Amino acid sequence: MKLALLGCGTVGSEVVRLMHDKADDLAARIGERMEIAGVAVRRPGRDRSHLPIDPNLFTTDALGLVKRPDVDIVVEVAGGIEPARTWITTALSEGKAVVTANKALLAADGASLNAAAVAGDADLYYEAAVAGAIPLLRPLRDSLHGDSIDRVLGIVNGTTNFICTQMTQTGASFGEALAEAGELGYAEADPSADIDGYDAAAKAAIIASLAFHTKVELSEVYREGITDVTAADVAAAAEQGCVVKPLCIATREPDGVSVRVHPAMIDKAHPLASVNGAYNAVFVEAEAAGSLMFYGAGAGGTATASAVLGDIVAVARHRRGGVTAFRPEAAWGDLPVKSIGE
Ligand code: HSE
Repeated sequence: MKLALLGCGTVGSEVVRLMHDKADDLAARIGERMEIAGVAVRRPGRDRSHLPIDPNLFTTDALGLVKRPDVDIVVEVAGGIEPARTWITTALSEGKAVVTANKALLAADGASLNAAAVAGDADLYYEAAVAGAIPLLRPLRDSLHGDSIDRVLGIVNGTTNFICTQMTQTGASFGEALAEAGELGYAEADPSADIDGYDAAAKAAIIASLAFHTKVELSEVYREGITDVTAADVAAAAEQGCVVKPLCIATREPDGVSVRVHPAMIDKAHPLASVNGAYNAVFVEAEAAGSLMFYGAGAGGTATASAVLGDIVAVARHRRGGVTAFRPEAAWGDLPVKSIGE
């Protein structure tokens, strides 16, 4: 089976390394060896000699790679809206399975991707798009499909959780904590994506869509960043036995779904209150299952590559077994999404 890798940055290079190091394990789990047919990159001249891969496999022609008849699976870890959307919809419409980590694209235009997957009868998996290594989306779209989810509370942005943790535990100012998060490499290239809540809002739209079986648009997520959180807010929260956390809150209400992302006070006794540093956690309240918490590394190349590899194994097994593509989104209902005022 052959795979095209689109993007070779922090996550992509770890996918290459893990596919090499774990080649025997992956072959055992899939039932045959998985070969990388090519790696599409923007800068072919960059030194990638540390990666265990034939340098001749690097190409700048991503679309050509996607269309190659011998490619079965397309793995997109380049990010951004275009040309990633064209690559993915082309692959799906040709019946190729797609694994992507592209939260921005899924949140902005998941409907087009899903439609292309339906048209091509192809798998579309994206566990790595939300909360890095934490298995969350597949439990939502699979294991919990027989249950009804009432509410999802999550810390889905490591940078802002790190900032809130530092402000609470060390008394650091917002600016000092942000600078430290940047040095540690958690932050997005544009820190506004983290601190103004855009990254968390994209993840919240994806989570809510899967939890409530309805399409939640990014524009329907109420978004507030953490830039206005002060030392006084953190101290006031502590006096009330609470901590300030950057939360995503998605709730099923009698008349629809509401989805919001903002800093909030949470009781110190709540399991999310002790999720510190750059860790992510998502607390799911379901009718029959009760409360569940998913916790772990929400960012980082190796951790995120673990989720990509898990999806690669899943879609490869489907192809080998001739299983009909797994797309619960095709049966989404039309539960309305409520607008939340400023
Ligand atoms: N900037 C993101 C975060 C990276 O801090 O969580 C993972 O999406």
